[in-house]
Amino acid sequence: MGLRHFIRVLDLKKEEVEGLIDRAMEFKRTHNFRGLLSGKILALIFEKASTRTRVSFESAMLRMGGHTLFLSGRDLQLARGEPIKDTARVLSRYVDVVVLRTYSHSTITEFAVYSSVPVINGLSDRFHPCQALSDLMTVLERGKDPFKEKVVWIGDGNNVAQSWIEVSALLGFPLVICCPPGFEPERELLEEVRSKHGAKIEIVHDPGEAVEDAGVINTDVWVSMGQEEETQRRREAFRGFTVTAELLKRAKPDAIVLHCLPAHRGEEITEEVLEGPQSVVWDQSENKMWLHMALLEFLLKGE
Ligand code: CP
Ligand code: NVA
Repeated sequence: MGLRHFIRVLDLKKEEVEGLIDRAMEFKRTHNFRGLLSGKILALIFEKASTRTRVSFESAMLRMGGHTLFLSGRDLQLARGEPIKDTARVLSRYVDVVVLRTYSHSTITEFAVYSSVPVINGLSDRFHPCQALSDLMTVLERGKDPFKEKVVWIGDGNNVAQSWIEVSALLGFPLVICCPPGFEPERELLEEVRSKHGAKIEIVHDPGEAVEDAGVINTDVWVSMGQEEETQRRREAFRGFTVTAELLKRAKPDAIVLHCLPAHRGEEITEEVLEGPQSVVWDQSENKMWLHMALLEFLLKGE
């Protein structure tokens, strides 16, 4: 396997996604991972805050015997105008793999063009591919078959939703995206996945109808990082899109609720649902670490 990056879900083949999830589950079950990435160095370049993605990647690498370097975007010469292409060429002489969390998606794609080591998207304004894979792992772990259950996204059609769209396109199960008008996923992405993959993505605007008989419900914040000045406008636009206990009654009684976190209780989800028996958010967070172990192994060792 030559140099591979993981910038969007569609960088992988269906069998590779299935293989990564199997491997992540194996790591979780057996804890048999010691020394697998001995001596390897992971650099994390983050322009935005992170709890889960940062710590789960660092912990994954350390548990497998590797090392990590956390580099806040602010502290690199990048912040003083050094070009991305120079940073990429220099850093890839020092480290074995890089995780980037950026505002602009093009920062990651440009970095990858010049990097001689694998580049992983740790969240950009377009995608959060690692999140979607660990979400999928959580869905499968809970015994939910996305081909048999109605899978619904409620909320903003941005980065996490767009990676879910790619998972749905790649694996071939239908996905309902329920968002307020004006907050749909990118038109070009929908066209791409529909024409190239025959993706079955339905865009709707009524949360009640969307969750009717759903088995898997996923949501995310109304105001993503970098959109803080739109907070008021978004809170108004998303009114009625909160995942409440009342809304959940319309789903299947054993439906599961996912949220990538951090959550804003009382906005996209209520405290009652987040802390309730149908919420799987803590396993979902944990699974990021197992999935990242499998992903690092895959990119570094071609396995
Ligand atoms: N879900 C997720 O990516 O969380 P962080 O922003 O804490 O990394
Ligand atoms: N959509 C959110 C996801 C955070 C993990 C954001 O971009 O801030």
